Amino acid sequence: MNKKPAPKKESAAPAKKAPQPISPPRGMRDVLPADQPVWDLARQACRNVASAYGFERIETPVVEETALFIRGVGKQTDIVEKEMYSFETSGGEKLSLRPESTASVMRAYISNGMLNLPQPVKLWYLGPMFRHDRPQHGRYRQFFQFGCEVIGDEDAVTDAQLALMSHVILKDLGVEATIRINSIGTPESRANYKNALVSYFRSKRAKLSEDDKKRLLKNPLRLLDSKDPAVMEMKAEAPQIIDWLDEDSKAHFMRVLEYLDEVGVPYQLDPYLVRGLDYYTKTVFEIFTASDEPEGAQSALGGGGRYDGLAEILGGRPTSAAGFALGLDRIVSRMRELKIEPPAPGVDVFVAQLGEQGRKKALAAFEELRKAGVRAAEAFSKNAIKTQMEIANRRGAKWAVVIGQKEVLDGTAIIRDMDSGTQEIVDARKVVHEIKKKLDHAEVKTENH
Ligand code: HAM
Repeated sequence: MNKKPAPKKESAAPAKKAPQPISPPRGMRDVLPADQPVWDLARQACRNVASAYGFERIETPVVEETALFIRGVGKQTDIVEKEMYSFETSGGEKLSLRPESTASVMRAYISNGMLNLPQPVKLWYLGPMFRHDRPQHGRYRQFFQFGCEVIGDEDAVTDAQLALMSHVILKDLGVEATIRINSIGTPESRANYKNALVSYFRSKRAKLSEDDKKRLLKNPLRLLDSKDPAVMEMKAEAPQIIDWLDEDSKAHFMRVLEYLDEVGVPYQLDPYLVRGLDYYTKTVFEIFTASDEPEGAQSALGGGGRYDGLAEILGGRPTSAAGFALGLDRIVSRMRELKIEPPAPGVDVFVAQLGEQGRKKALAAFEELRKAGVRAAEAFSKNAIKTQMEIANRRGAKWAVVIGQKEVLDGTAIIRDMDSGTQEIVDARKVVHEIKKKLDHAEVKTENH
């Protein structure tokens, strides 16, 4: 049956379109309050380890000159070629959101004259990085890294200790992980290896995808990262960089491995690990965990290595350095899979009130308790005592301090045991003292159990 459309109502003003809700940019997310405790646990483990190993915090700008990353990370890396958020300011500056922090930290070392400090300079950082990559599981466009850099030190023991630190942080968090390690030598030994690799893959060029053919021309080492099954098969026969290392790099690498053996850090030699950033020399490593997620089966929780040439590339004096960065998003996601949760923050006392006078006194009592270091909670905007008691229970308060009209007149307060429901009346001036007494008593009781 054909119905005639109802005639449109005449209205004076044109109909307003309801505004559409706005989502976060693709590949970026909110870290919500419910997620913060597990993030805090991860961040705290990083900070504790950094300070135990003698590192100091540095904060560099989130935005740097684009040239820093072109020179530092490398013009032909995926990060610089495809993944940078770059823009020009109205003043004509060419800037980029940082895709990583090693280049920034080295820039800061040079521009702040840290060469004049006692060496090595050991710095840590934690903050957001930006890569305009294809978003997928464990890969975001804004992600958080914790990193440590040791600048002004060439010894192999530093490389080993950095790898150890990344392992220690994950172990402290309850995440089992293994290190994959390799040495890529000096730029010269790497150039020789590149030639060998190019002639190997050239003989199999027909089997390469268009992307991999381009890689073969521009950055042949990246072929070793290819996920194409055909390339992965060819890789098994490909020359290995270890056979092209100069004597110094080889000896350095052997020492790194000996130190790792000494401290019992589990590692696997990975002859094809080359990393996606151009600044590396000698040691490179990544830290992996087995994941329950099928797509994330082998997800790198962190990576690092030595970068003895970076200072010079950035206009500084030749300065040896090494470091690593952990991906906090991936670590938190692994912690979730393993159900690693921090204990919920407890509350000792809930301060409840009735009537306007009661609310005023309760407001002041809350301040006294808080200043005395008691974990107190409140819901001063609620009127009904029943609602307040429900909140107190939800928050897990052991006691409630209740101040109503009568208590205000009497100069008293009620202390209610939330488990048994028993109540006692105390002098209002003694609330903090009484609560502290109860807390001490409860502590002794749990200790004796
Ligand atoms: P990277 O391997 O590029 O190294 O990044 C380190 C870690 O950051 C990765 O292992 C991963 O956990 C995390 N990560 C990287 N990209 C993403 C992403 N799109 N989404 C989520 N997590 C990600 C560096 O950045 C070097 N600066 C490390 C270093 C420090 N080398 C020497 N010092």
